[in-house]
Amino acid sequence: MALKLQPMSMTVQLPSSFTRPRSRLFRSSHRVYMASTLGITSKEIPNDRKPYMPPKEVHVQKTHSLPPQKIEIFKSLEGWAEQNILVHLKPVEKCWQPQDFLPDPASEGFEEQVKELRERTKEIPDDYFVVLVGDMITEEALPTYQTMLNTLDGVRDETGASLTPWAIWTRAWTAEENRHGDLLNKYLYLSGRVDMKQIEKTIQYLIGSGMDPQTENNPYLGFIYTSFQERATFISHGNTARLAKEYGDFKLAQVCGIIAADEKRHETAYTKIVEKLFEIDPNGAVLALADMMRKKISMPAHLMYDGQDDNLFEHYSTVAQRIGVYTARDYADILEFLVQRWKVAALTGLSGEGHKAQDFVCGLAPRIRKLEERAQARAKQASLVPFSWIFGKKLSV
Ligand SMILES: [Fe+2]
Ligand SMILES: [Fe+2]
Repeated sequence: MALKLQPMSMTVQLPSSFTRPRSRLFRSSHRVYMASTLGITSKEIPNDRKPYMPPKEVHVQKTHSLPPQKIEIFKSLEGWAEQNILVHLKPVEKCWQPQDFLPDPASEGFEEQVKELRERTKEIPDDYFVVLVGDMITEEALPTYQTMLNTLDGVRDETGASLTPWAIWTRAWTAEENRHGDLLNKYLYLSGRVDMKQIEKTIQYLIGSGMDPQTENNPYLGFIYTSFQERATFISHGNTARLAKEYGDFKLAQVCGIIAADEKRHETAYTKIVEKLFEIDPNGAVLALADMMRKKISMPAHLMYDGQDDNLFEHYSTVAQRIGVYTARDYADILEFLVQRWKVAALTGLSGEGHKAQDFVCGLAPRIRKLEERAQARAKQASLVPFSWIFGKKLSV
């Protein structure tokens, strides 16, 4: 017999620590040009917002924007995906694991190895740690990204263990990505340079908030988004590797470098999917690209919060921009790279709307660079902001 549940109404009183002080919410900062270039929007939240809602308001999203006949394209591409996309996954036995780069807790020399790690990281500046922590937190919100991929019509993992190549890719991609946050988290923990509890809180807040990529359950938009993001993470982990080397921590450089290599492989797979869409449906693909770029690609961790700083993501992004790990220029470069990768300028036979979209995306990168230069020139003097991740020490943003 099926249980019949009585409808009931319940008011849940959450502790005040679930909420953020409203008066301080969404102070707009004139210095967040990079974040605003990257599509971060903050609006006043309505007063009736429930305390367990995400700390920042997200867009009201369009849903299921791809028509059913186009969703069929993905079914028809299953054989192709098996041959062309799954080959970019690495067999588990051939993959590196976080333990390969960390002191071995089962070995005699564990304490010595930890000591060496702490010695190596001692002189690395706080700016770098804040950026590495932000990158690690971004990786740690992986449940959100797997969820995001499973919002996409036609490619989602319908059962949790579906055998379509799309679902196999998503699960294996997630499993590969899972090593990134794991490795960075353990390395940072052992360094003793950062406030782990504040970092852990930020991760919990971020996973609870989700993300707002505006991909509308639409795999065209979704795969453009992931192409962009994999390249963005490839660039930023590559830059943290370069800087770690400059600071003399070659092991940390190796850690960031090996993660960057994974991101590159993932970028190759996602850009290949979009390349295929450009081949079979150039008009639809160029419209989708223009749509994503008009909306701006929001960063996956743009809803981050540590319980203290209402503009944490903007502050972290500003430090990342200042030390050259990820900049507004990189955003423009990624767009330009993708436009070339997908040979957008050479597309022919487009509709009137398609032509407009083509012109828009082909001319966008130089426009973003110009805007960024102007924003740089307008930027006021830097102010000092405390970061809970480094025990409240203040950094210039
Ligand atoms: Fe990653
Ligand atoms: Fe990635």
